[in-house]
Amino acid sequence: MGEWVEVATVADCPPGSCIEAVVGESIVVVANVDGDYYALDGICAHQGGPLAAGELSGCVLTCPWHGWQYDVRTGKQLLSESIRQTAYRVRESGGTIQVELPKP
Ligand code: FES
Repeated sequence: MGEWVEVATVADCPPGSCIEAVVGESIVVVANVDGDYYALDGICAHQGGPLAAGELSGCVLTCPWHGWQYDVRTGKQLLSESIRQTAYRVRESGGTIQVELPKP
């Protein structure tokens, strides 16, 4: 089990929104889907777009640059079985959002 890193307060990421955070040396996007939090690699697998600046609709996050779409629950790109953003474990604790920094 890795280290849990506090990235925001729950007020920073209300339902239907997403935020960018730095976890270790990685940029992640944290999404709130109806009160459930999910965290993915925040750099789009296509050409590096900032996923946190994309649009979240339900559990689908659309990259702002060219429209690739990801299921934030899994990291899976919706049109390709072989493309998947790294997913991180995320939890709420004491009014904060925490993302697990995987062990190297
Ligand atoms: S960089 Fe995300 S769709 Fe192109």
